[in-house]
Amino acid sequence: MDKTLLIVKPDATERNLIGHVIGRLEKAGFRVVQMRMQTLSESQAREFYAVHEGKPFLDDLVAFMISGLVVPMVLEKDNAVEDLRTLIGATNPANAACGTVRQEIALDVQRNSVHGSDSNENAAKEIAFFFS
Ligand code: CMP
Repeated sequence: MDKTLLIVKPDATERNLIGHVIGRLEKAGFRVVQMRMQTLSESQAREFYAVHEGKPFLDDLVAFMISGLVVPMVLEKDNAVEDLRTLIGATNPANAACGTVRQEIALDVQRNSVHGSDSNENAAKEIAFFFS
């Protein structure tokens, strides 16, 4: 069974949408096999998003990710990485397909409610980051 990582971000935990997101995941056939609620330190958020070093939105993204509770979780499903990305939709909710999680609940390109790993390689790294 393939694994991927999803994070419920601060804009969604703040609006009591953790259960809603998990419901969407379970209905789509994902199995939650590890999960935790926590806050991130600035250095943890910078390390997690190191791939975006140099991007103009990085400082704001880090400030947002440390602004409240996050819920990282490991999900299991055949074709988990690709199926999760299809389910959550485009990074910018303005471009997210109808019926996707981000189209439904995300506020804007930064406060986009959930993160999903974008490749099997990054899924393994991101799972190890939160659940070593
Ligand atoms: P995520 O899937 O977690 O991956 C990187 C995050 O950076 C992304 O979701 C958004 O929260 C944020 N992001 C990506 N592009 C932009 C942008 N153009 N402006 C602001 N934030 C962005």
